[in-house]
Amino acid sequence: MFTIENIKALEKLSTPAYVYDLPLLRKNISVALNESKKYGYKIHYAIKANNNPRILEEIQKLGLGADCVSGQEIDLAVRSGFKTNEIVFAGVGKTDKEIQTALKHQIFAFNVESVQELEVIGEWALVLKLPASIALRINPNVDAKTHHYITTGLDENKFGVLSHELDRCLEIIKENEYLNFKGLHFHVGSQIMDLSVFRRLCLKVNEWNEWFYERGVEVPVLNLGGGLGVNYEKADEEAIAEFEAFFAIFNQFLEPKEHQEIHFELGRSLVASCGSLLSRVLYIKNGLKKNFAILDAGMTELLRPALYQAFHKIECLDERESDNMVSYDVVGPICESSDCFGKEVLLPELKRGSLMAIRTAGAYGEVMSSRYNLREELTFYFKE
Ligand code: LLP
Repeated sequence: MFTIENIKALEKLSTPAYVYDLPLLRKNISVALNESKKYGYKIHYAIKANNNPRILEEIQKLGLGADCVSGQEIDLAVRSGFKTNEIVFAGVGKTDKEIQTALKHQIFAFNVESVQELEVIGEWALVLKLPASIALRINPNVDAKTHHYITTGLDENKFGVLSHELDRCLEIIKENEYLNFKGLHFHVGSQIMDLSVFRRLCLKVNEWNEWFYERGVEVPVLNLGGGLGVNYEKADEEAIAEFEAFFAIFNQFLEPKEHQEIHFELGRSLVASCGSLLSRVLYIKNGLKKNFAILDAGMTELLRPALYQAFHKIECLDERESDNMVSYDVVGPICESSDCFGKEVLLPELKRGSLMAIRTAGAYGEVMSSRYNLREELTFYFKE
């Protein structure tokens, strides 16, 4: 990771800024690839986790496919060099324009989330005379045991085709010569630390696989989605996700048919550890009950703590250890009380200008930033 020496070596360090450690990104992804290749699995990178062009360039070079959730992400993936036949497209609200974009690029598969969406894709495929490959997203009703905002695989969630609609979906595909059935798609949530969730997912997938098999429908691909969590408590270089155990579970519990391909869509576990948000202390305010360290970064640069009460490690890069440790609420400058990175964080005594790093911010950090309060554009640094 970045040491204070190499960060300070950055001339005229401007904050707030994201710094990305590209060697750590490459190391992380090579672990994921080695583990997945043991079983012949294919990984698509979930671009929504981080769409920084430099990050995409690295990931594309390593040979991953791309999982996109908008027409713009598809265009960006193509511009970044991802192969069009290795792009999948998910999302419950694909617009006509996005469907056309995906058809034009002849992507690997639409991950379809409703009957009506399937009909619309079919209509556009006929109009444009361009074939569309379809994977049906099934909601397996598996509890991801994660924050309820990022749980997607329960009956009460908006994702996926309902099970009683699957026969209708197969009929629509059969009736339209431009629609090809490519397989099944599942994704039960994100930041999943309890790996038994994936065992339960496998058991459900086996049941659905059997359901199609019994109807004589060939399922070329099973896409198991993403969701593997990272340990935000650890130092970034140690926050490598449990890729070995993750893929081993699928190898042990999934029962694919002969020639079935197994795909994944990983986001966070590939990119979270390589990014930190750098910020300087603007002011220290010693209140009656609390000390506040007010940073020049806020929820506009990293929304996760405000939105999900997510934990991110906060460090002072000028001085890591001190005899004089002080408890601070580390907050941002935005006019919202939720604009807080951490409460009662023990840190060396801070002063105006202290350089701070908020760790493990490479996933769902930059991409969820906003210009609320008309904030300035972010700055980026890369460790090559
Ligand atoms: N596939 C689908 C269909 C998804 O919806 C997602 C993430 C992924 C794959 C990638 O999941 P991952 O491997 O990154 O867990 N903003 C939240 C996370 C939202 C995840 C949305 N879907 C956060 O900051 O925690």
